[in-house]
Amino acid sequence: MAFRFTVGRVIPSGLIFLALFAAAIAVDGLLHLLGLVRVGRYLGVVGTLFILASFLYSLRKRRILERGSPKRLLQSHELLAWLGASMVLVHGGIHLNAFVPWLALVAMMVVVASGLTGKYLLQEARESLRERGEELRASGLQPVDVERELLRLSLMVDAMKKWRSVHMPLTMVFAGLAGIHLLATLLLWRW
Ligand code: HEM
Repeated sequence: MAFRFTVGRVIPSGLIFLALFAAAIAVDGLLHLLGLVRVGRYLGVVGTLFILASFLYSLRKRRILERGSPKRLLQSHELLAWLGASMVLVHGGIHLNAFVPWLALVAMMVVVASGLTGKYLLQEARESLRERGEELRASGLQPVDVERELLRLSLMVDAMKKWRSVHMPLTMVFAGLAGIHLLATLLLWRW
């Protein structure tokens, strides 16, 4: 059980997390090689847009957005947030001279780690609900409706609820720090 959990859950999450640093270092290295270091600065804006776009999932979940498969949008949330975070990491680099942006960067990494934890809690919940899926399929429901129902049920599982009560405040802290950094940058900008 512990072995299955480590191999199937902990290692993949750890690797996805480490890949974020590897991707950021690779992109930063490439930009340095090509003499395009300035481009890295602007990746902060693109990365933020990616992270914001990843919240289409939240809009769909709350039915503010009427269209789009929740399952696909959750997958895009994970991918876009990961890509966005890696760009923000290139943007921030290892320049630790300003306190708030640095804290924002740490908060972002904590949110990504928390997101990965949620992803695997969700997978556990979905596995335990597979049996329910069998029942739904046997009742003649369309595969797409079965998927939608399973996602809905797994999001309601207790562990997910507890995780969400940590993940949401973490996201707020990250958003607050990123907001202060953005505001300070705009105020200090030489217009
Ligand atoms: C900058 C990075 C990220 C931020 C700011 C972020 C933020 C959020 C927020 C606010 C939610 C709640 C959605 C809602 O209920 O409206 C959420 C849910 C979720 N996120 Fe992330 N996330 C990030 C990265 C990730 C990553 C990298 C993954 C996984 C690879 C991930 C996986 C999930 C999962 C599985 C959920 C649960 C879905 C649900 O409860 O409905 N997140 N995230």
